[in-house]
Amino acid sequence: MATEQPTATAPPTGAATATAAGDATAVAHPNIALIKYWGKRDERLVLPWTDSLSMTLDVFPTTTRVRLDPAAGQDTVTLDGVPLEGEPRRRVVAFLDLVRERAGRPARAVVETGNTVPTGAGLASSASGFAALAAAASAAYGLGLDATGLSRLARRGSGSASRSVFGGFAIWHAGQPDHGADPDLGSYAEPVPVPVDELDPALVVAVVDAGPKAVSSREAMRRTVDTSPLYRPWAASSQADLADMREALRRADLDAVGEVAERNALGMHATMLAARPAVRYLSAATVTVLDAVLELRRSGVSAWATMDAGPNVKVLCRRAEADRVAGVVREAVRSGSVHIAGPGPAARLLDADA
Ligand code: DP6
Repeated sequence: MATEQPTATAPPTGAATATAAGDATAVAHPNIALIKYWGKRDERLVLPWTDSLSMTLDVFPTTTRVRLDPAAGQDTVTLDGVPLEGEPRRRVVAFLDLVRERAGRPARAVVETGNTVPTGAGLASSASGFAALAAAASAAYGLGLDATGLSRLARRGSGSASRSVFGGFAIWHAGQPDHGADPDLGSYAEPVPVPVDELDPALVVAVVDAGPKAVSSREAMRRTVDTSPLYRPWAASSQADLADMREALRRADLDAVGEVAERNALGMHATMLAARPAVRYLSAATVTVLDAVLELRRSGVSAWATMDAGPNVKVLCRRAEADRVAGVVREAVRSGSVHIAGPGPAARLLDADA
């Protein structure tokens, strides 16, 4: 069981100005999992089958403002100035309903989000999105959560958002399937201490296709858990991967970190390929980048790939070699875009008076 959170990493959710005004703005960054979350054991509570571990990035922040509007009959939700509709809107409203229920305050809200990450392209926009929404909404409705509580709340919006509450490296505990009367309590993220300066990690993000995905990660996960004969073996091996990953991070051994991250991601994609019908997020452009990563390794550069619910590739390497890796990846991608990310900060509230 995890220990109590250091308060230094906690976003200032109790900030009096924000709470009193019913108006709060928060910023959160996406994270990339090195040990993946794939598969829920409880859809409503967003409880995963496995633990996962990620690095929060210092690029592509999401900024979300939540303002209570007691006179309004419904929530207003915009993304980059455009009203959200359909399933994305439904998820935000359901999340606000949860916050309202906990706060005992029925007021509707105006939610304005600005995203700098291509939405829905497997670049974890839901992670930064729901981490920012959780921080802003919990402050605006006056929930007064600590970082652990905020992580649990963000999880209900999108599982991976539980990790974006924290900066640097974070582990999200699946929690015990038989966790007492309240299974919600055992499943939250917390920081993983890593000698970051020694590890000196960078993720080169190759956006080979910024369009929305054909199958949502939610649906793909469900199908994989329900139909893939490879799911349970992967989930079991992922637990061993996590132990190896923690040890590699502790030693600041980038090659070991990369090796474990790559095998865990490829295994996750194998579970999807074996689902019925198959889910295949990896495209020809993905494989081209994977070949370039192999070539880099053959030439002595530490470079390791990981992919999420989309065709884009994130290449783990040393910060000192990131420009070289990005150059090679850019050559391979040609029509896409390539970005270099380092470890980023925790979710935080912006001062209401700033
Ligand atoms: C492949 O957190 O987007 O990126 O909980 O259904 O919203 P929901 O899923 P989401 O899934 C992310 C899956 C992943 C791996 C990871 O980030 O661990």
